[in-house]
Amino acid sequence: MLEVHGAIAVITLDNPPVNSLGHALRQRIVAALDTAESDPGVKGIVLAGNDKAFSAGADMSEFGTPLQLAEPMLRTVLERVEACRKPVVAAIGGVALGGGLELALACHGRVALETAKLGLPEILLGLIPGSGGTQRLPRLVGMATALTLIQSGSPQTARQLAESGLLDQVVSMDLLASASAWASELAERGTPLPRARDRELDACVAQAILTAQREKLTPRQRLQPAYAALLDALNAASGAFEEGLQLERALFLQLIPSTPAKALRYQFFTEREASKLPLALQADARRVDTVAIIGAGTMGAGIAICALDAGLNVILLEQDTAALQRGRQRVTEHYQGRIAAGKLKANVAAASEARLTPSTDWAQLSRADLVIEAVFEDLAVKQEVFRKIDAHARPGAVLATNTSYLDVDAIANVTGRPQDVLGLHFFSPANVMKLLEVVRGAQTGADVLATGMDLGKKLRKLPVLTGNAFGFIGNRIYNAYRKQCEFMLEDGAWPEEVDTALQAFGFAMGPFAVADLSGLDIAWRMRKAQASTRDPRERYVDILDQLCEQGRLGRKTGAGYYAYIEGQQVKTTDALVRRVIEQASTRRGIHRRHLDAAEIQRRALLAMVNEAALLLAEGVASRVTDVDVVLVQGYGFPRWEGGPVFWARQQNRAALEQDMKTLAQQAGPSFVLAELTALLTS
Ligand code: NAI
Repeated sequence: MLEVHGAIAVITLDNPPVNSLGHALRQRIVAALDTAESDPGVKGIVLAGNDKAFSAGADMSEFGTPLQLAEPMLRTVLERVEACRKPVVAAIGGVALGGGLELALACHGRVALETAKLGLPEILLGLIPGSGGTQRLPRLVGMATALTLIQSGSPQTARQLAESGLLDQVVSMDLLASASAWASELAERGTPLPRARDRELDACVAQAILTAQREKLTPRQRLQPAYAALLDALNAASGAFEEGLQLERALFLQLIPSTPAKALRYQFFTEREASKLPLALQADARRVDTVAIIGAGTMGAGIAICALDAGLNVILLEQDTAALQRGRQRVTEHYQGRIAAGKLKANVAAASEARLTPSTDWAQLSRADLVIEAVFEDLAVKQEVFRKIDAHARPGAVLATNTSYLDVDAIANVTGRPQDVLGLHFFSPANVMKLLEVVRGAQTGADVLATGMDLGKKLRKLPVLTGNAFGFIGNRIYNAYRKQCEFMLEDGAWPEEVDTALQAFGFAMGPFAVADLSGLDIAWRMRKAQASTRDPRERYVDILDQLCEQGRLGRKTGAGYYAYIEGQQVKTTDALVRRVIEQASTRRGIHRRHLDAAEIQRRALLAMVNEAALLLAEGVASRVTDVDVVLVQGYGFPRWEGGPVFWARQQNRAALEQDMKTLAQQAGPSFVLAELTALLTS
């Protein structure tokens, strides 16, 4: 770990892969510093990482454990670095994140490769930097830059930060040599060594920035205590350093056991878990270089963009040239938009588009390793398309459908190779949303599933395995939630009361605003298709159907649950909608009553929890925690609440079960009440 080259000691952090600052590494850093400092031949010290990372920060598995707080704690290591009588220079390549960047901030100098990524992502885990980041960073880069970096949680490259004051040098090569030269230079200059803690901030400017930011916090940020805590900690950076450190520490320790921080840590680990197939299903993935996408509509074009971005060859197939032209145009406009916004270089976009083959010729399919069908949501249409795919795709190609609700087996079985067929359920917009449900049909081969999961990762998605059941995981739970919200309309709430309560819980949007946005006719069509098989005992709320019959299909027709004036939602529902709702209550013999926000939130969550337990019992979800990944990633469930399963596990079990029973009574005889043991304990 410690090597001496001439007058420079190089301490190389050695906890692969990303040098997380676990207890053992912290001990070794302090020991190496002691040795280097006491070596009379050493004039300066360089702290270096490996190619991947200077250091990615704290060891997350230590969070909230005694090891995290065992000496030397990170802050002790930092004090040791800062107090070293010989200059310590951080040589930053790869990533310097969280505690890793805080370690660099405590050094006397910082030299970075221009591609290095530096950031303080603690806020994304419901925390604030806890080892001086909120005190040292603003002193080095000023409050505006510090605030942006810490509040966004997103890293920036050394190239972007070159002028910020954070780095003494940004180099394109020879990192170690440059850092060593800088350490020699600082040794030459002598004491006092430059330390972030000795710098002063302009308190007036800093406070003005923070006051303005406090006003600007979004409702979702206000629900997460870390955002206000961050502003408090940063505010202290204009005062005495030690006091600031103490406040930062106290706030950090308060946040660590808070529910949002626990939920965010849980999501972090659960997401990683979700993208792994259960052991019994693990197999080698098939190789995929060329993807064919059938249907260049909203979804097909979006999927094409993410496949192109991932470096794959894409064949985009449509039924006629006009539709193909429209699809091609969607892709082109997307790239033009990114170029215009300065997010993509023109030559990179051109290289991506060069890998696209738009076509109406089905013979092109023979070149594809994987085919994704994204045509209309109609079983007969999809079956016809799959017969054609079967005729043209090469043996061994993986065949996927992007259906939202249809039976994957009914699609697979029209081919002569159902073992090669699976569902790949992307979410809209497909090039943005991270969730991908990978649907296992009755005969889907293990290597085909592995290929689906693998493709998801290649497309930088979060693939989650699901069984083949109506709505898979996400839409099935969302339907249960939406139904419950409709019950609440009949029971006495107005749409805006339900939406406001659920937004106050943290949902990105309320269910009725979402329904208006996606168009009520989608659900209306599905309801009509299901009418003949519906359980006659089901509590069926027909408010949506009534609205559709009156031409209120949502935002696109200027009215749905809400009216829209010049695209803006009118906050309260109008007399017509209220009359439709009141009539529905009357027909069911319900005396309308006021539902408060707490009841609305609880009923909506209970409905999700019940459905999650059913999905687990039916084997549709292989891990119940997958439900939480799906809801957070695909349906706007607040990440800092962890997901419905995490939420349920925070509740008192007896009360939960009691309320579930009440929910079942309100829902009528067709409601299946789930057993919660597996959900709460697995
Ligand atoms: P869309 O209507 O925008 O696009 C469908 C495209 O398929 C059209 O361009 C049409 O010309 C083409 N097409 C139809 N029949 C064809 C055939 N026989 N051969 C070749 N092309 C054909 O529909 P959208 O929204 O893109 O949906 C596609 C699929 O994705 C559906 O199964 C839908 O349920 C699913 N989906 C849609 C989501 C959404 O939010 N729009 C989300 C997730 C899945």
